[in-house]
Amino acid sequence: MIAEVPVIIAVFNAKGGVGKTTTVVNLATCLAALGRNVLAIDMDGQGNATGSFGVAEQPAVGTYHLITGQAGLRSVWQATPYDGVALVAATEELTVADIELASPGSGHAVLRDLIAEAGGDIDVVLLDCPPGTGVMTVNALVSAHAVLVPVAPTPYARDGLIRTWRIIKRIQGALNPQLTILGGLVTLADAAVDIHADLQRTMQAELGHLLHTVQIVSDPATFVTASVHGVPASVYAPASWGTRCYLDLAEWVLDCEPHLRRLALGLTHNPDPRPARSRSDAEATIRAWHDQAVHAGLFELRGNLPEVAPRDQPPPERRASPSASSSARRRACRPLLAGLVGAALASVAALAGYALAGGPWAAGRAPAAAPAKCAGDGAAARHGPSE
Ligand SMILES: Nc1ncnc2c1ncn2[C@@H]1O[C@H](COP(=O)(O)OP(=O)(O)OP(=O)(O)O)[C@@H](O)[C@H]1O
Ligand SMILES: [Mg+2]
Repeated sequence: MIAEVPVIIAVFNAKGGVGKTTTVVNLATCLAALGRNVLAIDMDGQGNATGSFGVAEQPAVGTYHLITGQAGLRSVWQATPYDGVALVAATEELTVADIELASPGSGHAVLRDLIAEAGGDIDVVLLDCPPGTGVMTVNALVSAHAVLVPVAPTPYARDGLIRTWRIIKRIQGALNPQLTILGGLVTLADAAVDIHADLQRTMQAELGHLLHTVQIVSDPATFVTASVHGVPASVYAPASWGTRCYLDLAEWVLDCEPHLRRLALGLTHNPDPRPARSRSDAEATIRAWHDQAVHAGLFELRGNLPEVAPRDQPPPERRASPSASSSARRRACRPLLAGLVGAALASVAALAGYALAGGPWAAGRAPAAAPAKCAGDGAAARHGPSE
C-alpha cells in the first residue's frame, strides 16, 4: 500500500496576465469533476484565484498565515461550492509578504513540508503563482513537483518566457532538482485572428515535447464574464469551448499523474494509474455545478453581461469568417507575430537546452524535466503532446 501524498503543481509564468489564475481555477474544477480532491493555494496578493472561487470577503487566515506558521493547513483551507475543490485564500497580508518575508530573520516555511505534514485526502495541489520572482514564487517552485507554464501568444511573450525559463532552471539547479517542467500551455489562443495554426506550428517546431497540444482558446465572453461573477469559467459555461479545453488539460494531467506521484513518493517506478471518472460523468458534474450556481442566483448579481455561450457552440475556428478587410489585416500580421513568437521560443528552447535536435533527449541524457510526453511513463496519451 503506497502512502498518499499529493502531487504539487505550480502554475507559473514570470509575465503577468497570461492565464495562470484562470488555469488554476479551471484545472482545479475539471480535475475535481474527474474525481480528484484538489487544493488550490492562492499565492498571489492580488487574490484573483480566491475571487474566482466566489470568496468575496477575504477570510481571516490564508496562505500568509500558513507559510509564516501562524496556522496549520487544515485550519486555513476552506471548502468551495465545488465538491472536491478546497482553497487556501489570499488575504491582505499576502500583498506585502514579499517585502516582509524577504527581510533578514523573517522565517517562513516551505509549502511542500506543510502540505506533507497535513497528509490525508488531497490528490493534487495547484499553486497559483504571482507574476515575478518574489518570495511566494520561489516558495511555490521549491515546493512543486512540476511546473506548468501558461503562455499567451503575444509579441511580448518573449521576455516573459526567457525570464520564466531562467527562473525555473535556477530553481532546478539550486533548490529543487526534481522540478519537472510540465510544458508550455498556450492560453488565449485566438483562432479568430487566423494565427492559431501558424503559432502552433512555430511553437511545436521550437519547443517540441515541451509544448502541449492542448491549447486554451481565447473566449472573453466566457472567461472574463465568469471572473466578474466570481465563478470558474467551466462552471459559468459548461458547454463552452474553453471548458472543453480545460477538461482536455485535466485529462492530460491525469495521464501524467503516475509520473508525478513517482516524484512525490520518491519511488523508482511509476505507480499504477488510478481510476478516474469518465469524461461524460465529469461533464455532468460540471453542469450540475452550473445549475446550482444558477439557482443560487450567482449569475444575476451584476447584470448587463454577455450571454453565456450556447450549449453546442462550435469551436472558434468554425465560426463565421471575419470581414475581407480585417482578414487581410490579420494575414499581414501573421508572419510578424509568428516570427516574434518563434524567436521568443527559439531563445527559450536554446536557453533551456531542450531543442529537439542536439538537446538533452537527443544526447541520451535523462532530462531534468520529464513531461510533456507522459505517455512514455505508461499512461494513455489521450490528450498528450504529439510525438
Ligand atoms: N482563454 C481565455 N480567453 C479569454 N480571456 C481569458 C482567457 N484566460 C484568461 N482570460 C482573461 O485574461 C485575464 C488574465 O487572466 P489571468 O488572471 O488568469 O492571468 P494571470 O496570468 O493569472 O495574471 P496575473 O499575472 O496578473 O496573476 C483575465 O481577465 C481573464 O479573465
Ligand atoms: Mg493570476
